[in-house]
Amino acid sequence: MSSSSGKAVDRSGRLISDHEMPLDGLRFMRYNSVRVSSPASIANFGPGFDTFGLCLEYPVDSISIKAEPSGVVKLKSLGKYTVPSSPMENTASYAAVKLAEICGRDRIGFTMTVRKGMKPGSGLGSSAASSVGGALAMAALLDVRDKGLVLEAAAMGEELVSGSRHFDNVSAALYGGFTVVSDLKTRTIIQIRPPMFKVVVVVPEIHIETRNAREILPSSVSMADAVCNVSWASGMLHAMMKRNVRMMGSYLDDKLALPYRSALIPGYQEVRESALNAGAAGVSIGGSGPAVFAITQSNAVSIKKAMVEAFRHSAGLRTESFITVPGKGARVESAR
Ligand code: HSE
Repeated sequence: MSSSSGKAVDRSGRLISDHEMPLDGLRFMRYNSVRVSSPASIANFGPGFDTFGLCLEYPVDSISIKAEPSGVVKLKSLGKYTVPSSPMENTASYAAVKLAEICGRDRIGFTMTVRKGMKPGSGLGSSAASSVGGALAMAALLDVRDKGLVLEAAAMGEELVSGSRHFDNVSAALYGGFTVVSDLKTRTIIQIRPPMFKVVVVVPEIHIETRNAREILPSSVSMADAVCNVSWASGMLHAMMKRNVRMMGSYLDDKLALPYRSALIPGYQEVRESALNAGAAGVSIGGSGPAVFAITQSNAVSIKKAMVEAFRHSAGLRTESFITVPGKGARVESAR
């Protein structure tokens, strides 16, 4: 296991040294204006409910921040996706305020501009992308170098939207690659560099609130289901470290959330079968849905076509679809 820099993970997998590393491209000075990009991610990745996260290269949110006099907070939103316009209801500006508060800067002034690159409520970690972007932008503005603080503030932004402070999407969006929340209490995040594969993403034209998709889950599960998920999750990590995409696909399954949530996605079984018949290594739901994704090393275009057609044919649903690859995480694009 290693971080993308190859030296930030200790023997137990903790990203402690990475937390202490300067944010990419920044060197011991304060900035007046910063622009960051923050990517979509796939939480759960089959058997890792609230634990696994895969960072995607595309789509990304683009978030800019500019220093203002103390107490002045303004928010602008650009692009086709609608997001809350009040700074304390928008996950990007909320996470930025939380990062400043954690650092003792309670009345920080700023203007934030958010260009959403992904549809909120689609299962692609939209709220995590915004909250990581907002927290990272504020960290760069304040010259804060501890990524652990960015993670903490981003999880607060996630909680604002979903009602739960889960770390799977925010870890993947911040650190990149494939991440495992291996100890929630100590915030230990393991990062694994995934093998190269294509991720086919198909988002049907329905909206699922994470908050609601969490409420339908049972509060306890059977021992048999828990054991099954532990087995699959272990197999997934083995396959990932063996860099065997076919084997990864065979473990892309889940007993804890998927059986309940697939019922919220009309045509899910048909879409899954169409992707497997077209050669996908595995198929599952992105986070709390409704995005359905497939992983593959070949035939991505045919798999996408088959999935889009299956949604249309079996459920009469139109879709947005794209092909992407594992990504490297949020980054500061410019600072001055
Ligand atoms: N792990 C979370 C869930 C991700 O499945 O509810 C939601 O974004």
